[in-house]
Amino acid sequence: MSQAAARYLIAPEAKPAFARYARLHEDRARGRHVVLAPERAYEIDAISLAVLRLIDGEKPVGAIAADLAAQYSAPLDLVTRDVTALLQGLADKRLLREGPDAFAPPPLSALAQSYCASSGGPAGLLAELTHRCPLQCPYCSNPLELERANVELSAGEWGETFRQAASIGALQLHLSGGEPTLRRDLEEILTHAVEAGLYTNLITAGVTLDRARLETFAQIGLDHVQLSIQDVDAASADRISHYEGGFEKKRAFAAWVRQLGMGLTINAPIHRHNIDRLPQIIDFAVEVCAQRIEVAHIQYYAWANLNRAALIPTREKFLETVRIVDEAKARLKGVLNFDFVIHDHYATRPKTCTGGWGRSIVVVTPSGKALPCHAAQTLPGLVFDDVRMRPLGEIWRDGEAFNAFRGTSWMKEPCRSCDRREIDFGGCRCQAMAATGDPFATDPACELSPAHGAFSGLALSEAYVASPPFVYRRPGGGAAAPRAELESAET
Ligand code: SF4
Ligand code: FES
Repeated sequence: MSQAAARYLIAPEAKPAFARYARLHEDRARGRHVVLAPERAYEIDAISLAVLRLIDGEKPVGAIAADLAAQYSAPLDLVTRDVTALLQGLADKRLLREGPDAFAPPPLSALAQSYCASSGGPAGLLAELTHRCPLQCPYCSNPLELERANVELSAGEWGETFRQAASIGALQLHLSGGEPTLRRDLEEILTHAVEAGLYTNLITAGVTLDRARLETFAQIGLDHVQLSIQDVDAASADRISHYEGGFEKKRAFAAWVRQLGMGLTINAPIHRHNIDRLPQIIDFAVEVCAQRIEVAHIQYYAWANLNRAALIPTREKFLETVRIVDEAKARLKGVLNFDFVIHDHYATRPKTCTGGWGRSIVVVTPSGKALPCHAAQTLPGLVFDDVRMRPLGEIWRDGEAFNAFRGTSWMKEPCRSCDRREIDFGGCRCQAMAATGDPFATDPACELSPAHGAFSGLALSEAYVASPPFVYRRPGGGAAAPRAELESAET
C-alpha cells in the first residue's frame, strides 16, 4: 500500500522544488509564462516568475525572500508573506515537493522552444490513438461506430500532428482512446510528443501495461497519468467494465505511476451503481497518493445515452455527492485536488462544454479526423477535416466544423440575449442534439431552455425505478449481450 501524502507546509526553512510533473513554460503563442501541471496551465505574472525561477529544492524560502527583497528594495516581511502565499498555493495543488525531485524529466527540446508565435490556437490536443479497448464501460464516450485499427494514423503522422498543434499554441496533449496503450508504437508516439514540447497526459484504464513498459514511458518523458476506475468494490468494477480482475491491476498500476514520479489523477465516473461508495473512492485516491481526482457524473451522449436509465442516480443521491465532495475538499486541502462534474439533469445552468466550441481544444480521432469535441460526430451535417489532408492550424481557424458553433452568432433565444452567452456559450451542443434533436438549441441543462422540464423529468422517470441491465459494447462495434455471471440486479 502506498504512503498517503500529507499537506506540504511552506515555512521559511522549507526548500521547495517543482515535482517532476510540473514545470515553468514560456507560452510564446500567448506571450506569457505558465506553470504546466496535470491537465492545467496556470498563468503567472512577472513577480511569480522571478520567485519560481529560484526554487531548486536547495535554497530555503527565507533566503529566496531575502534575495528578492534586496533585489527589489522591498520590505522583507511583505516579500516573505507574498512568496510564502504563492508557494503554498502551488504546494496545495501538489505541484511542489521538498528537495529536488529524483525523477527529473528530460530537458525541453530545442524544437519546442523554436515555435513562432501564433495566437488563438487550442490550448490542448486530445489524441484518440485508437478506439480499441479491453473494457466495455456502459458510459463510454467513444462514438457508436468505432474506427478500426487499419485506419489509425501512424506514429509518424501523430508526430507531425503534435508538432503542428504545438506550433499553434497547444500546451497539453492528452493521449487517449479507447485504450491508448494498445498501440504497440506508443513509445514512438510519446517520443514525438515530448520532442514537440507538449505536456503529456496518458489517459488509461491501467489494465494493459506492465511496470517495465510504464518505466520506459517515464524515461521518455511522460508527465502525467489519468487512471480511470469503475468502482472500489472489485466485483462491481468487473460488472461495470465487463472485464474481470481490473481493480487490483489498477491499484498496482497506480502505485507504479507514483513510484516512477509521474503525476496521477484518478478519474471516477459516478452513477447509480457506484454512487454509494464515493467516500471509499475518494479514500482510494488518497491511498494511492493521487494529486487529483475527477468525480464526474455521467454525460449522456453516444454510447452512454443508450445506458442512461441504467446510470442516472436519484436527485437525493446526487445531492449527497455534492455534500461528500465539499466535505472532502475541505478535509483534504493540500492532499487531494478535486474536479467535480455535476449531473446535468439536476443542474440549473449548463457547463461550458470543452471550454466553448472551437476555443480551447481540438480532438483528433484514430483515423485523423479533427473534431471540436469528442462527441461532435453525433451532430448532423458537420464536415470534419483530415489532419493528413489539411494543416491543423488551417483546420482550427477555417474548418467548417470548428466555425459551426464558434462564438455566439449561431445562437437562438434564449441564449442569444442572455448575459451568460459568453460564459457558457450555450452549454453542450452534443447534449442539446441528444435531448432535443436540434444542435442549435439551448442546452437543456439550462433552466431557461424550453426543453429543461422534459430533460429534468427524465431523471424522475428513470432514476426512481429499478435499473435495466447495461448494454455493453461489443469489441469492434455493436451491442453485446450481458454475460450472465456479470449481470446483477443491483439498482
Ligand atoms: Fe447559458 Fe443559454 Fe442558459 Fe444563458 S440561456 S445560461 S447562455 S445556456
Ligand atoms: Fe460536444 Fe459538449 S460534448 S459540445
